[in-house]
Amino acid sequence: MMTTWWCRISRSVLITLWLGLLMAGAPPAALGGNVLAVYPHFGFSHFKVVMPILNELARRGHNLTVISYVKHPQAEQWPNYEQLLISQPGEDQSSTTINLVPLTEHTPTRSLGTLFREYYSLHSEGQKTCERLYASGHVETVFKRHQTQPYDLLLTEYFNSDCQLALAKLMNLPIIGLSTCALMPYYYDRIDLPDTPSFIQSEFVGFAGALSWDERLVNFIQAKVLKLLYRYHSNRADNALVSRHLGIEVDVDEVARTQTAFIFGNQHYSLMGSRPQSLQFVEVGGVHLTSQAAQELPANIAQFIDQSEVPIIFFSWGSMVRISSIDEDKLAAIVEALERQPLRVIWKWEAEEKPKLDADKFLFVKWAPQLALLCHPKVELFWAHGGLLGTTESVHCGKPMLVTPIYGDQFLNAFSVQNRGMGLKLDYQDISVKNVSEALKTLSNPNYATRSVGISKIFSERQNSPLESAVWCVEHVIQHGLLAAEMLQSPGIELKWYVYHSLDSVCLIIVVLLALAYSLYHFSSGRPSKPYNNNRRRKSKRS
Ligand SMILES: *[C@@H]1O[C@H](CO)[C@@H](O)[C@H](O)[C@H]1NC(C)=O
Ligand SMILES: *[C@@H]1O[C@H](CO)[C@@H](O)[C@H](O)[C@H]1NC(C)=O
Repeated sequence: MMTTWWCRISRSVLITLWLGLLMAGAPPAALGGNVLAVYPHFGFSHFKVVMPILNELARRGHNLTVISYVKHPQAEQWPNYEQLLISQPGEDQSSTTINLVPLTEHTPTRSLGTLFREYYSLHSEGQKTCERLYASGHVETVFKRHQTQPYDLLLTEYFNSDCQLALAKLMNLPIIGLSTCALMPYYYDRIDLPDTPSFIQSEFVGFAGALSWDERLVNFIQAKVLKLLYRYHSNRADNALVSRHLGIEVDVDEVARTQTAFIFGNQHYSLMGSRPQSLQFVEVGGVHLTSQAAQELPANIAQFIDQSEVPIIFFSWGSMVRISSIDEDKLAAIVEALERQPLRVIWKWEAEEKPKLDADKFLFVKWAPQLALLCHPKVELFWAHGGLLGTTESVHCGKPMLVTPIYGDQFLNAFSVQNRGMGLKLDYQDISVKNVSEALKTLSNPNYATRSVGISKIFSERQNSPLESAVWCVEHVIQHGLLAAEMLQSPGIELKWYVYHSLDSVCLIIVVLLALAYSLYHFSSGRPSKPYNNNRRRKSKRS
């Protein structure tokens, strides 16, 4: 009896073990996920960072529903990619040339006043984007879809609003946020990423080198105040907007803290600097550098380069800045300084009317395949505005930069380039023949090229490519859902700030030390016993 019972048990154990081994050895079940991606921001340069990730997910067979402002040029090629556009067909901004910001709007200083104004304009932009998202009718569409074919994950952008996180709340989805610029300071706490303002600069500022005492003060104030503003101003507006459109009460900040699994940052330490990390923060800087991005040069550009016996400087202030709005005197100064140099110039210029200059030396192009140009061996210098994509491309190709930041994160990026010895920052208002000539002379020092090439190698040499890292995270979350988020989350995010920084313990220790110091002082210098003894002695003498 005993033996048969034991045999039966051991046989079932063996079968279980055998089944377990069989399953471990077998290839994992094909994991197809249903991904909801919401990217309502209008900037094409933002969507450009997201597209390679969406492309790869579609290629791997996941079902994608993508609510976006920007039309994906290749969306139709996949049956499993559903595109829900927020923009009207006529205002599709999928061209690379947007040219929204005239140069007269550049923000020359990074004072506290400027950065609060910048916060406010980002906030208003975010609210407008949210209104359009909820007015588009696509939110209802995806809710309906979720009833029959549930989504596994919300992919979205962490930039200037969180109203879209209500979807994650209602469908109970884990979230992966993507920051297309340096992560905004108000998102650090969500994933317990230290903001350490004594040396970490945020998107809103930008300082040369190590921070001086007054810079640290400004950096501290912006890091802390922007967090409070975002939470109690922007997020409240998001909650009110959601309540208005969906009739439900949601705290988007809480949703973000409890349901975010990862945040992808479009940055890399070789450019933005090393810093304490969080498991939930994944650096994907360079994810937009796909093989598609390295297109061939158009014939006229290739010919101009081939015929050149001197190095070439590529001049482009990106797709958002309208270069034709440059002030006459600045243009004249740039041209005069460049004419004196043994250089040829390829200049991105979006307007029909171009400056009349020596066509052997200056080539004006409306559009250029930037990556192919920057990686061309004859292109030796990039005069950029410090947009993160162009800066990243230049780091990838290992080319020194002259950076003239105009607005937003461009100042931070310009300082990053300068601080790492890959180039120089030249402010727009400082452009003069003398200053440009001096900058070009300094940059002709081979140290800049050597450093740029060295850093480029470190930038490119990673354990996993940025795209592989991003896709691994997405599939990890598809497979494990909110449990993945729960395992990743730091317990620190739920603590009160004074507990997090152990200020309660520090206070208690200080109080005890003070009490100890006081009593020591009291016993050693107060000496209440001596006069008493003297009195006693005196008394005894008298007696
Ligand atoms: C993806 O969508 C197709 C078509 O609607 C469906 O048959 C399939 O089951 C979906 N995949 C998953 C993982 O739900
Ligand atoms: C040249 O640059 C310096 C700062 O480096 C600035 O103070 C000066 O005003 C600039 N000169 C002109 C003419 O803009």
